[in-house]
This record gives sequence, structure tokens and C-alpha cells, in this order.
Amino acid sequence: MSAVFRLFYLSKATRPFEAAEIDELLLQSRRNNRAAGLTGALLHYGGHFLQVLEGDADAVTGCFERIRRDERHAEVLPLIDGAAAQRDFGDWAMHYVTPSGPGDRAVVAFLEQLRRQATPEAVRQALALMQRLARRADADAQAG
Ligand SMILES: Cc1cc2nc3c(=O)[nH]c(=O)nc-3n(C[C@H](O)[C@H](O)[C@H](O)COP(=O)(O)O)c2cc1C
Repeated sequence: MSAVFRLFYLSKATRPFEAAEIDELLLQSRRNNRAAGLTGALLHYGGHFLQVLEGDADAVTGCFERIRRDERHAEVLPLIDGAAAQRDFGDWAMHYVTPSGPGDRAVVAFLEQLRRQATPEAVRQALALMQRLARRADADAQAG
């Protein structure tokens, strides 16, 4: 099995996104990622994006080069960029995850704090948040 490379970044949307624009972004991302063997997750919340991309190192960095230049977001801050033990979002060409419920405000505050101080512990927590939201979305989907 080939090594997995992971890239995790935080960015800010340059303008508010309509649901249809997110759908279009996901369609485009999933089509490209499937073709490149990439998997990952995207959170869009309170004007922030948080994204994990995983796969072959060249494919991940090539994709990230395109994403970085995308004018739909700015202030792209890489948080993790390196080898990973395994894929965390292996079933998804791009899993869209979103917080909901009483913790919402806390997520925005957490992302703002992460931007100010991306300590290893804060980055670990952010990745754990993505994994938790992805698992919850999967469970909700199964429950119908
Ligand atoms: C927040 C954000 C996340 C994105 N994620 C991906 C992605 O996972 N894969 C991808 O191919 N493009 C992604 N894009 C889009 C790229 O920036 C770029 O527009 C696209 O890859 C160009 O693809 P095309 O040449 O097929 O139109 C993302 C853009 C934004 C703003």
C-alpha cells in the first residue's frame, strides 16, 4: 500500500456562499478528487473553511496548489502537511461536514482561536472535530 499524504488547512470565504454554490464546489471537487484518488472532508461554517485532503503526495499538493489560488476563499493557513498513518475519510471523495446544534457558536470561536494560535493541540482538536462531524453525518445518513 502506498503512503498517505495529508494536508489540512483553514481559510476564510471571500463572500457568503449560497447552498447551490457549495453544491457546485462539492460536485467539482468530488469529480476531480475521484479522478486523482483523493479523499477528504470539507467544513464550511461561519465564513470559515476547514479542509482535509488525503492521498498520494503529488496528487494532494497538485490539488492544493489549485485550491490555494481559488478566489472563493483567502487567508489560506496550512495546519498539517505530511505523511499520515492512514486515510481518515477513505470513503469520501470530499465529505461535507457541518456543525449543528447548541455547539455552533463554540465552533466559530474555536476556528478563530485556531487561526490566531495553531498550536499542535489545537490542530489535533480541529482534525478530531472533522472526524467527529463526519462520523455523525454518516450515522445520520444511515438513520435516514
Ligand atoms: C474551499 C475550497 C475547497 C476546494 N476543494 C477542492 C477539492 O477538494 N478538489 C478540487 O479538485 N478542487 C477543489 N476546489 C476547487 C479548486 O480551487 C479549483 O477551482 C478546481 O479544482 C478547478 O477544477 P476544474 O479545472 O475541474 O474546474 C476547492 C475550492 C475551495 C474554495
